[in-house]
Order: sequence, then structure tokens, then C-alpha cells
Amino acid sequence: MIYLDNSATTKPDPSVLDSFLQATTVYFGNPSSVHQLGGTAEKLLQQSKQQVAQLLNVKESEIIFTSGGTESNNTAIKGIALQHQNRGRHIITSAIEHASIIEPCQALTELGFEITYVPVDEDGVVSPTAIQDAIRDDTILISIMHVNNEIGSIQPISDIAAIANQHPKLFFHVDAVQGIGKVPLDLSEPGIDMVTMSGHKIHGLKGTGLLYIKEGTSIFPLLHGGHQEQGLRAGTENVAGIVAFAKALRLAIQKQDMHGHELSELHNMLRRKLEHIPDIQINTPIHAAPHIMNISTPWHKPEVLVHMLAEKGIYISTKSACTSKQSEASTVLLACGHSQLNAKSAVRISLAYDTTEEDVTTFVDTLTQIINQLQKVMK
Ligand SMILES: Cc1ncc(COP(=O)(O)O)c(C=O)c1O
Repeated sequence: MIYLDNSATTKPDPSVLDSFLQATTVYFGNPSSVHQLGGTAEKLLQQSKQQVAQLLNVKESEIIFTSGGTESNNTAIKGIALQHQNRGRHIITSAIEHASIIEPCQALTELGFEITYVPVDEDGVVSPTAIQDAIRDDTILISIMHVNNEIGSIQPISDIAAIANQHPKLFFHVDAVQGIGKVPLDLSEPGIDMVTMSGHKIHGLKGTGLLYIKEGTSIFPLLHGGHQEQGLRAGTENVAGIVAFAKALRLAIQKQDMHGHELSELHNMLRRKLEHIPDIQINTPIHAAPHIMNISTPWHKPEVLVHMLAEKGIYISTKSACTSKQSEASTVLLACGHSQLNAKSAVRISLAYDTTEEDVTTFVDTLTQIINQLQKVMK
């Protein structure tokens, strides 16, 4: 099997699974219980939080563990909107955000909020000036993703943070689900107030993640019902999942430090090989995250390619996992100015640190054969 759908989800690291198993069997107590089993679970939870805070260079009190990217994004968007609606009801985001940002924003319009979707250029990058120009007196939140999940474009987070920092009354949230462990991001940078991360994109487990909430940022909780996570996220903590998340994050950061260059080289190799296939369009910009490559095959249905590759044991996806079952055009590619034809025929190849040169070569050779085969049928 050659798995090239790592932006949809990653295979859990065996050592992450070991940590999970150990935590869930030995430390199964409820951290809120007053007896010893509860106490040890609580201690483990605190240790994981400490570890994560150290890795991210933030305070322990600034981390809340969640069930993943979707929950963290919803908590950030709705949490700021509901808490600060008396000051303003205007939110700025981009045209290429993940559904877990776009849909909460759309839902908020039903409650009287106004959303500005800042456009992107042909490389899928937001202009900080466009964000600056969109800021109004009643703007309470800017939410911009770190790395786009379909094409891998990297957003100018530092520049946007600098702008947000000049407007102390508004908050800046970053969806870092695709960037973490691949593209550097300094959470402690002035101007960044909230950051979303997800465990299953970094060889951790599904249903795990976090929201960084900078000290002094107040949000209305999405979940009420207990005092867990400083009252910001009620519900018995997923202790074993959190332990697994901390481990996965540590490994992801280590891999980024030690093997980031190799992943970029592999990404470049993939691009060079794809450039030799006639009739495909490469949609990922040159300056992009090192694990995502988006291409269009305008004369072939993307689902057919995905299925034919899967029959040969190679796994890629059409667009992103959340939208891959819909056959409409990619809104991300349309926002970058691509034609309907290109936007309807996109597929995404996403690498991991364990992807090899041989995997890439086999994938490109198989794709070439499939395209040749399909072209013969069309003639
Ligand atoms: C950019 C981005 N944000 C958020 C999410 C949602 O994360 P989760 O699957 O953990 O809910 C995803 C998942 O694909 C994503 O790519």
C-alpha cells in the first residue's frame, strides 16, 4: 500500500498507540474523582498539558484539549462571537477556509453577524493589506488558516498578526491543523490569540486536538456541564487521547526539525515528475507546505483516477476529505481563479515523513499509465 492521503488523516504512530493503551488501561480513572485513581489520572493530564505547553512555548493555562480541529474551530468562532457580540458583530475570514470555519461563520449570519470573506491571489494566498482594509470598528474576530488543506498554500500569519496587534479589541484565530509539524508557526507571536490543532493529522488519534487561547482572551464556551478545562470545555477529559496527542505533537515537532528538509526535497521531486505528465495542471504554488500537492486532470473524472489508483494500492483523494464525496468544483480552486473544469477535476496527493522516493516514483508511474489508458479509451 502507498498511502498518499495524509492530509485527510494519518496512520497513528505505534509509540502513540502504546502511550494511549498504557494510559487507558492503567490510568483509567476520572480526573475529577477524589480518590487515588482519579488523582493519578489528573496528574497525567497535567503532565501532558505541561508537555504540550512547553513544546508550543505557551502557558499551560492557555491550552484547552478538545475533540479535534472541528470543535476547536467552532469554539473559537462561536466563542468569540457570543462573548463579544455587544462590541461588534463583524468577522473577517478568507474564501479558502476549511468547512469547520466557513460553516460556523455562515450559521452566525442567521444570528445577525456579518462575515467578510477576504479573497486570495492565484497562489491561494491572502493579502494582509486586504485584511487591514476589511477591518471595521465593529470587527471582533479575524480567522485565517495557516496552511490550506487542499492546495498547501501558506498564509502570511506573522503579517496578519502584526495587523491584529494594532487593533487590541479584535481577536485573531489561526487554524493550524494542516501546518503543525510541517511549517513553523510561533504561537507566542504578539497578535495571535487562538490556534487550532488536531491529533489525527500528526499520527495521533482521531477525536483529539486542542485550542490555544491566549491569556486574557475570553470566550463563551461551546460546551457547558462541568468545570473541566477551566470551565471552557465541559465533559470528562479524554485522558488517554490527550496523552497520545502530547506524544504525537512531540514526535511531529521532532520530525519537522530533523526531516523537514527531506520532506521538502520529496515534494520537489514529486512536482518535477508530475511536470512531465502531459495534460495535468499543478495547482499547488511553488512556495507551499511540503506535504500537499494538488493537481487537475481536466479530461478525466477525479473519482475515476482515485478509484483506479486505489485498485493498485495507491491512496490519494479528490479535494479534501470533508468535501471529497461532493462532485462540485473546489471552492478553493475557484477562489484562486481556476476554471470550472480545473476546479472540478482536482486531486490531492499528501505526503508524510515516512513517504519514500520509491513511493513517489511508483505513484507517478502508475498515474501516467492510468492517464494513458484513459486517453486510449477516449480516442
Ligand atoms: C484546515 C483544517 N481545519 C480543520 C479540520 C478539521 O479537523 P478535524 O478532522 O480534527 O475535525 C481539517 C480536517 O481536514 C482541516 O484540514
